Amino acid sequence: MGKLNYLIESQQFDKELLFTLFKRADELRESKANDSLKGKVLATLFYEPSTRTRLSFESAMLRLGGEVISTENAKEFSSAIKGESLEDTIRVISSYANCIVMRHYEEGSAKKAISVSKVPFINAGDGKGQHPTQALLDLYTIYRELGKIDGLTIAMVGDLMNGRTVHSLSYLLGKFSNIKIIFVSPENLKIKDEIKEYLTRHNVVYEENSNLSEVLPIADIIYITRIQKERMSENDYELAKGKYAINSLNLGQIKLTSRIMHPLPHVEEIDLPIEVEENDKRITYFRQAENGVFARMALLEHLMK
Ligand code: CP
Repeated sequence: MGKLNYLIESQQFDKELLFTLFKRADELRESKANDSLKGKVLATLFYEPSTRTRLSFESAMLRLGGEVISTENAKEFSSAIKGESLEDTIRVISSYANCIVMRHYEEGSAKKAISVSKVPFINAGDGKGQHPTQALLDLYTIYRELGKIDGLTIAMVGDLMNGRTVHSLSYLLGKFSNIKIIFVSPENLKIKDEIKEYLTRHNVVYEENSNLSEVLPIADIIYITRIQKERMSENDYELAKGKYAINSLNLGQIKLTSRIMHPLPHVEEIDLPIEVEENDKRITYFRQAENGVFARMALLEHLMK
């Protein structure tokens, strides 16, 4: 099993480590009290907004008996605003904490950070790049919900160009067998060639299909994502918005055994009544967000113990 000292991209996981983390996440879910990281400090450094990632990491660290120091709007309220380089910031925080979790608006920033970090480092999203801990919790969710990963057909729907969760999950699925991925996106927000090339190299069958109605009845997982308005021109947003959604009209096309996932936050691409969101077993995204706490607890232990 490959021991990790930092996590910047989901390709770093091997299968053995993934299943070890899933098992530990299950154990941590059941355990009432745990102080395995007592005396350790986690720094969360977020240059972009977040609800789930930052708070679930902080919750994870506190549940493990550790402490948290945090800057939730580092773009404005850290010394970045005074012109400090990312490298200097990381060097300094390395001496305040035992692990750093960072979200940044620039793709490649996580790589820059690990070149100077003296402590374990976790990429919590770098621009349009990757979000490997989201992929970890997504895969953990798939495994918990369906009991397997090999052999599944997974539809990735929405903004596949800018959606870093789609990138990280695609790379992670490349480690499994007999997987089929169907990419469904607006014409101007297609999945990157480098990901398609990676999937081909790892024997993952994929196709691109712009007709969601053809895809919904055959997918085991529908992984739908938000159009990332903040990462594109107004023109691109106008071309893409409202093109794909899960709603009361097409929910019936989805198999009763399938699961609808979303990294959240969702806007109009999921348009279902609250009773359906709360009672239909196929709706997985709130359980998915909850799973993030346990998957991140397991990862923090792996990196810091
Ligand atoms: N899924 C996810 O990254 O959510 P946040 O942006 O709220 O952290």
